[in-house]
Amino acid sequence: MSFNVAIDGPAGAGKSSVAKAVAKKQGFIYVDTGAMYRAMSLYYIRKEIDVNDVEAICARLDEIEISLAYEDGVQQVFLNGENVSGLIRTEEVGMATSTISKIKEVREKMVALQQEIAKTTDVVMDGRDIGMWVLPNADVKIYMTASSIERARRRHKELLEKGGTKTLEEIEQDIIARDYQDMNRENSPLVQAPDATYLDTSDMNLEEVIRAIMNMIDEKKAAV
Ligand code: DC
Repeated sequence: MSFNVAIDGPAGAGKSSVAKAVAKKQGFIYVDTGAMYRAMSLYYIRKEIDVNDVEAICARLDEIEISLAYEDGVQQVFLNGENVSGLIRTEEVGMATSTISKIKEVREKMVALQQEIAKTTDVVMDGRDIGMWVLPNADVKIYMTASSIERARRRHKELLEKGGTKTLEEIEQDIIARDYQDMNRENSPLVQAPDATYLDTSDMNLEEVIRAIMNMIDEKKAAV
C-alpha cells in the first residue's frame, strides 16, 4: 500500500514549496495537480478557445494528453508529449485554469490520472480537491492557507524574480478572484476536508511548515 499525503489550500498558500520539500525528505514523489490543470488550459489558450465555453472545452478533451515525468526529482508536465513546465506559471494561465477546472469532465479526466499515480506510489499531492475527492483515504491531510495579502506578497516576489510587472494590489485582487471561483464552483469546490489539519502559514516560515508536516507524517507512520 502506498503512503499518501494530501495538501489543499488556496492560491499562494505555499503548498508547492512545502510539498516539494516534504516529498524530497520522505523520498516520495511530489504531484503538483495544479500544473496538470494548467497544462490543459494552455492547450485551449493556444487554440484560442474561450475557456468559458464549456461545450467547446468538452468537445476537445480527447485531443489532450497530460503526463508527468521527473527530472532530478522535479516534476515536469507534458502536454501531448511537449514539456510545458516552463510555460504555465503566468497569471493568465492561472486564471484560465481556475475557469476550466470548474468543468466536471475536465476534473474527471485529471482525477482519474491522479488516483492512478497515487495508487502505486508514495506521494505528496497538492491541489484544491485532494483530501476531499482525489485521495479521500490519504494517510495525512493538510489544509494550508494564509491571509490574502501575505499570499499576494509571496506571489509578487516570485513573479518579480521572473520579470513580472503586476503590482502587489493587482496580484491580491487576482488571488481574491481566484479564491472565490475555486471555493464557489459547483464541482469539487475548495473546502477543508473534515479530517484535514488546518495550517495557517501567515506567520510561519518555510522550515516551520515543513517541520510541522514531517511530524504529522512521522506520527502517522509510527501509528500504523
Ligand atoms: O495551484 P495552482 O495555482 O497551480 O492551480 C491553478 C488552478 O487550478 C486553481 O485556480 C484551481 C485549479 N486546480 C483545481 O481545480 N484542482 C486542483 N487539484 C489543482 C488546481
